Amino acid sequence: MEWENCVFWWTLISLISLVWHLRRKNNYRRSKLPPGPRGWPVFGYMFNLGSFPHRSLEALRQQYGPVVWLNLGFVNTMVLLSAGAAEDFFKNHDLSFVDRFTYDSTRPHDYYTVSIAFGSSSTYWRTLRRICTSEIFANKRINDTVLIRQKRVDELLSWIENEVEKSAGGRIVVRDFVFPTFFNMIGNLTLSRNLADPQSEISSEFCTALADFHECVGRPNISDIFPWLRRFDLQGIRTTADRSLGKAIEIISTFVKERMRERQQNQELSSEQQDFLDVLLDYRGTGKAEPAKLSEFQVTVFLMEMFFAGTETSSATIEWAMCELLQNPNQMKKIKAELVRVVGENNKVQENDIGSLPYLHAIVEETLRIHPPAPLLIPRKAVRDTNFMGYSIPKNTQVMINYWAIGRDEDSWEDALSFKPERFLDSNINYKGQSYEFLPFGSGRRMCPGLPLAHRMVHLVLGSLLHHFDWELCDDGKTIDMRETMGVSAKKLGPLQAIPKLKTA
Ligand code: HEM
Repeated sequence: MEWENCVFWWTLISLISLVWHLRRKNNYRRSKLPPGPRGWPVFGYMFNLGSFPHRSLEALRQQYGPVVWLNLGFVNTMVLLSAGAAEDFFKNHDLSFVDRFTYDSTRPHDYYTVSIAFGSSSTYWRTLRRICTSEIFANKRINDTVLIRQKRVDELLSWIENEVEKSAGGRIVVRDFVFPTFFNMIGNLTLSRNLADPQSEISSEFCTALADFHECVGRPNISDIFPWLRRFDLQGIRTTADRSLGKAIEIISTFVKERMRERQQNQELSSEQQDFLDVLLDYRGTGKAEPAKLSEFQVTVFLMEMFFAGTETSSATIEWAMCELLQNPNQMKKIKAELVRVVGENNKVQENDIGSLPYLHAIVEETLRIHPPAPLLIPRKAVRDTNFMGYSIPKNTQVMINYWAIGRDEDSWEDALSFKPERFLDSNINYKGQSYEFLPFGSGRRMCPGLPLAHRMVHLVLGSLLHHFDWELCDDGKTIDMRETMGVSAKKLGPLQAIPKLKTA
């Protein structure tokens, strides 16, 4: 009896000290983490994120400060909410957080293993980034392809003119014209073909497949925060991603195969005639620190990602800029006057005018400040345990840089919620990744490599639409609903409808 008593007390004391020790350890670890809401047991802050995570996360800044810690299911998450925190992050810790999270929607077809946007940092990813900077988005290639973009813009303007005649009240849905234009710009730069052609079955299949995949990647997925639920695919996201991504890959790979056959028969092309596909097929590496050449699958996925990353983002920027200008007649007057003065009343806007159009540039910048297409950039992941701003951030932590909140922070911007392009005139702030209060393209090693192309395309399309037509709001829409909807990128919830009128002489 005495012996049993002894065992009982010994077990009880051991259990109490174990629980005490674990709690102390947990409290100690928590005290070294940034502050943040505790959230629900097991689920953490998951239910509080809502449909607009950038908005709900911004609300935490007042209570917890610029660096906030959350648990989302089993994923540790750090959120940055100020320009100062972003500066420290990108200047001093970029390499420690260079990876991306592997979302379950990016697993089918091993997409994430070759993706530039969703893949982790690897030798292959570094090679792709190098090809982007030195070849695909290099100044020379962008200059060599001016006519491709100009032609798409000419088509856009005549297309709108024709449709206006047919449409009720002369109104159009702006994104129905702008999105296919960017799609065809990217299609011609990558594969030398229009891929938003309503007459072509293969085009509409590709657009649908890509839109469906886009939706899958943008949807919150329970499999991402409870990894052991992954195999059940409870929301069916992986299944849909598998189907849509498979279709998109199949279509692009038909074009890649066709080109490989053609190249065996034809002579070499000059660099002006080469599209992205030719550049990728011509790539030769050392085979040591970089692959000797790219496989057909790698080339296919790279080309697909150009559509994925470059079309929705650019199109959303134009739509938001038009919304703002239509509600600000004085700014509309100012930009139209600048276009007449610099371009000439009856001339077309050209890419080499962009540098002489400071107000147009300020409008694009202000649009990207207040309506960023990627409000949380693309979340990063800690490669290793890291000491960040005095906190101990464990390996594998997900990091969200809430650029949407930073762009609207009164500490960084005066009258932050008003649309005022004038704030960018005579300012040193720019979107090249060094002004930490203004990061619509991100910063550091994962910064958007398509920036030089996006810069040209967005200014050219916006400038041309504003110069070629006089725009009016529809009668029933004197004010515009400015709410956004979230997917991979944030775009306007309801499409903008407006009336373009040919300028009277
Ligand atoms: C207005 C237009 C655009 C905006 C606002 C935009 C914004 C962004 C942002 C915020 C990121 C993530 C940066 C980070 O994580 O720090 C990104 C990544 C990326 N963007 Fe863009 N982008 C635009 C247009 C384009 C275009 C035209 C292309 C190519 C045709 C492109 C290709 C990419 C790629 C490949 C990545 C992934 C880079 C990586 O993870 O290493 N983007 N973009």
